[in-house]
Amino acid sequence: MDVVVTGGTGRLGRVLVPSLQAAGHQVRQVSRRGTGPGGVRADLATGRDLATAVRGAEVVVHAATDPRGNPWQVDVAGTRRLVQALDRDRLRHLVHVSIVGVDRVPWNYYRAKFAAEQVALASGLPVTIVRITQWHDFVDDMLGTARRGPVLIVPMGWSAAPVDVGEAAGFLTEVVAGAPSGGEVVEFGGPEDLSAADLAHAWVAAREPSVRVVATPLPGRLSAAFREGGVLPGPQAARGRVTYAEHLRS
Ligand SMILES: NC(=O)c1ccc[n+]([C@@H]2O[C@H](COP(=O)([O-])OP(=O)(O)OC[C@H]3O[C@@H](n4cnc5c(N)ncnc54)[C@H](OP(=O)(O)O)[C@@H]3O)[C@@H](O)[C@H]2O)c1
Repeated sequence: MDVVVTGGTGRLGRVLVPSLQAAGHQVRQVSRRGTGPGGVRADLATGRDLATAVRGAEVVVHAATDPRGNPWQVDVAGTRRLVQALDRDRLRHLVHVSIVGVDRVPWNYYRAKFAAEQVALASGLPVTIVRITQWHDFVDDMLGTARRGPVLIVPMGWSAAPVDVGEAAGFLTEVVAGAPSGGEVVEFGGPEDLSAADLAHAWVAAREPSVRVVATPLPGRLSAAFREGGVLPGPQAARGRVTYAEHLRS
């Protein structure tokens, strides 16, 4: 099929594009830079070049995001621009990539991601919403940033089920080939539910053995949501196999 991946230069996009190509699809990938194989330039924040970039798409995997910039402009309004630009007669499947817990965790980026899901669902297009847990690399970055010299302070009681981004790409490749799920949200997570302290101990052992992990209680609603398992996949979720410990060893 003629597949367009938005966010093709991102962490997910870089492994998703080859996965879709290996499954036999013809893949274009859209980003502001338009770099990489099959790269096409378009800006979701303005709509510039978007109609040309997605012309003729039979399947779109929408994985562009702007967590550090303006997710309301890129993720929410950008999804609206995207669904308006698509050819309704030709499109067979819009696979909308989201994050497990966007409906539960009161964080601005997650609120925007949840609102973007609603835009995709309200479009009337054949949609599957796929919520995925945090990439292993993303957890590495978080822990690396939280480290202060010889100490790594992590929030007490938070838990997550991080996932291998390559396995997430493989799962999305299967979703692309399947039928749209309609309003039903599909979840994909890593194999294990781990506390922030577990993740930090594993990361420290593999990367910074002299660093000491300290778990400390963090007040507030956001912290409570993470403690209550807000980013853990539900019982119906598909799960990957690669553990965080395996990722650290690789
Ligand atoms: N990070 C995680 O752990 C995680 C976990 C689960 C799900 N997700 C979701 O998975 C998807 C992919 O995430 P990721 O980690 O691959 O993101 P990423 O590495 O931050 O990549 C974002 C992509 O979006 C593109 N982009 C940003 N602003 C744009 C704009 N205005 N117009 C067009 N393209 C734009 C970027 O390319 P340019 O900069 O070239 O435009 C890049 O290709 C997102 O929906 C994210 O919410 C992420």
